Amino acid sequence: MNTSQTTMVTGGAGYIGSHITHELLKNGHQVVVFDNLSSGQRRLIPDGAYFTKGDVRDQTHLENVLKINRCTAVIHCAGLISVSESVNAPQKYYEHNVVGTAALLRAMQRHDIDRFIFSSSAAVYGNTEMELISENAPLKPSSPYAENKRDAERLIRHASRWGLASISLRYFNAAGADPAGRTGECHQPETHLIPLLIRKACAPDTEPFSVFGDDYPTDDGTCVRDYVHVSDLARAHVLALESLIRTPRSDVYNLGTGRGWSVREVIDTVIALTGRQLDTVVRPRRPGDPASLVADPTRAEIELQWTARASIEDIIRSAWRWEQKQHRYPAKRQIH
Ligand code: UFG
Repeated sequence: MNTSQTTMVTGGAGYIGSHITHELLKNGHQVVVFDNLSSGQRRLIPDGAYFTKGDVRDQTHLENVLKINRCTAVIHCAGLISVSESVNAPQKYYEHNVVGTAALLRAMQRHDIDRFIFSSSAAVYGNTEMELISENAPLKPSSPYAENKRDAERLIRHASRWGLASISLRYFNAAGADPAGRTGECHQPETHLIPLLIRKACAPDTEPFSVFGDDYPTDDGTCVRDYVHVSDLARAHVLALESLIRTPRSDVYNLGTGRGWSVREVIDTVIALTGRQLDTVVRPRRPGDPASLVADPTRAEIELQWTARASIEDIIRSAWRWEQKQHRYPAKRQIH
């Protein structure tokens, strides 16, 4: 392979990482996917990318792969992602998400690779009074997962001392699937709102859909989130990497739409688009869930020239098409 400009994508076989890999290839970048396939899937890696199975906690392996492929940048998406699981397994989360990031940074330092994009999360803000959250809002993580992201961001910032240029991208709620149907969400187990709703709509059963809490301080009492299409997120990574190559610095950006949707509103939109009825039941709050997380995306708009283009309807439609493709449900139904 031509290795003049090669980016390693850790977690590149995962949901967001595979979308980023497609976008990098589309924009002429060479890509090495480094993924332990614990939750990622090989079939989601685009043909044009080189693949190595490996774990980010293994510094020696990372160094070998970075060196052999003459990588010039890293986009770090690998990590454990369930807020609720992290509450029960904080040590495991720390090892994967913080220790893994530290090993990757050490490997990069050893080989003078000084461009780094990090998959961070809006979860770092935790419970906040702010209606729209800007990057300088206080960080008040409300779960071990969120603490991991804050701690990893800190390690990354400290690495500027040896010359690392970095951008941490704080994703709000990634959702939807590649419009071309090449990749999409398939977590095992699935815990996210939109894919779970889509599955319920595709294959209704007698169990009502669980709404985790309706006594939050929001308009209808359910949690509010800013859902951003995964392809929009992927595009932001390429813009961030290109910006970092032009202007080395240590920076952080929110990636969201600036519009929040409550759990009830998302349910109503899925019902409206699919024409399927969904019964719901209110269950207790899920530990670690903040009431509302909605981005102020102004900074990314101005400095990265990035704006989320997809609507909540686009997100749900693309997630529906992906789910249909995965399971080939007998009562196949098109939504427009
Ligand atoms: N929810 C339900 N029922 C379900 C599943 C989810 O009511 O069956 C609710 C949750 O309680 C939450 C909302 O839907 O209020 C969204 O939950 P998700 O699990 O889809 O997403 P989270 O907001 O918990 O977390 C996601 C990512 C995190 C990221 C965060 C940033 O998984 O990595 O968005 O906003 F940090």
